[in-house]
Amino acid sequence: MALHSVILAAGQGTRMYSELPKVLHRVGDRPMLTHVVDTAGDLNSEQIHVVYGHGGDRVKAALSHLEVNWVHQAEQLGTGHAVQQALAHIPDSALVLVLYGDVPLVSETTLEALVKAAQDGNVALLTAVMDDPAGYGRVLRDDMGAVRAVVEEKDATPEQQAIPEINTGLLACPADRLKLWLDRVGNDNAQGEYYLPDIIEMAVSDGVSVLPVPAATAEEVMGVNNRIQLAAAERRYQRRMAEGYMRSGLALKDPARFDIRGELTFGQDCVLDVNVVLEGEVRLGRQVEIGANCWIRDAEIGDGTHILPNTVLEGVRIGERCSIGPFARLRPDTELADDAKVGNFVETKKAAIGTGSKVNHLSYVGDARIGRAVNVGAGCITCNYDGANKHQTVIEDEAFIGSDCQLVAPVTVGRRATIGAGTTVSRDAPAGELTVGRARQKTVQGWQRPQKKED
Ligand code: UD1
Ligand code: CA
Repeated sequence: MALHSVILAAGQGTRMYSELPKVLHRVGDRPMLTHVVDTAGDLNSEQIHVVYGHGGDRVKAALSHLEVNWVHQAEQLGTGHAVQQALAHIPDSALVLVLYGDVPLVSETTLEALVKAAQDGNVALLTAVMDDPAGYGRVLRDDMGAVRAVVEEKDATPEQQAIPEINTGLLACPADRLKLWLDRVGNDNAQGEYYLPDIIEMAVSDGVSVLPVPAATAEEVMGVNNRIQLAAAERRYQRRMAEGYMRSGLALKDPARFDIRGELTFGQDCVLDVNVVLEGEVRLGRQVEIGANCWIRDAEIGDGTHILPNTVLEGVRIGERCSIGPFARLRPDTELADDAKVGNFVETKKAAIGTGSKVNHLSYVGDARIGRAVNVGAGCITCNYDGANKHQTVIEDEAFIGSDCQLVAPVTVGRRATIGAGTTVSRDAPAGELTVGRARQKTVQGWQRPQKKED
């Protein structure tokens, strides 16, 4: 049977108290809905239908890159009504898998088991046993243990509310049967909604088997209805990612203090200290070490490079055996060749720093090309901006820039040139020569310090 996945995402998410539609709230820095769409894609769904409503344009715009069939639900009349909207686009012969945009972390393994259980025309219902089942629909079973129905918490008796087995909301069912049952679902209940789980009782009375499939873990099927649950989902996602990385060899000093908000690849023997946050696309070579409290976005870092604590990197390419930080900020289009060093309180932007060169203390290097084996002293600044345009600074191989120099771009410092400390370089400095531009020091002989007047 061809598999059609239906993802319910039309709800507003009132309990988030947000302008943003609920399914666009982010887990691992991606909208919850994209997690579900990706998982449905991994299952080889013939087609993925997303039922949208609240904030529809924003939902569609945020996910316009996804290949899904958008189904509009103008009024949110309940989960049963939502599924019905999608069924109009699904052939009778299909198997329908219902997923929720606000249950973002359900695993492929669990869904495979669910789909398999529905293969022979059964209804497969994903269930879980929760320590705290409050808020969920409860699974009612008969004396033999067979599933009889699902009752929503708001419609449940106190005895039913004591049942810890919950309806995750996710189910798989042949399309033709689902259509017939949903046509019969009414809204005479506490919330005045058309409940999807009402089809369970109908299946039972029509003699169709309802197979409960337990989720691999209760955690993965927890719904996100408020910000406490969103934060909990984030922690579960992070834990899952961290464990996956550690299983393939990444050393994390503390998996609970590591955050991945993008994609990471790494070579052998990389070590990450606590509170490292990685965003975008981060690629680490082998034996890369990242110190505590580093924020890194879109970076390629070569073998044996050490990033020292409290460093911020964004849009950078770093060679092998480099040392960066502590407290360095490398901004987009910074490139370091092998064995380069950028030290504390240094900011770089659009800068290429050559092999073995050092910018160790308190400097700003922007719109600059620095050659090999250059030493930039403490407190040097490339004055790259004239108030209207940016200009280039070029420092050729083996040049030495003394401390506290300003390089007023456009300007070139030649090969093996030396710039004396405190120089403002506003014209090109010739190769091999010493250039100094500062007032000559003089000593006033016999000068007397002023004295404080006595009253
Ligand atoms: C639902 C289930 C409940 C289950 C719980 C699991 C029903 C009636 N109840 O309750 O048994 O334990 O999920 O998390 O199904 N949605 C639409 N259109 C609508 C209504 C909802 O698209 O008209 C979407 C929402 O955006 C959301 C999902 O369906 O993604 C679930 O809706 P929600 O209102 O959160 O249902 P729950 O009260 O959590
Ligand atoms: Ca929910």
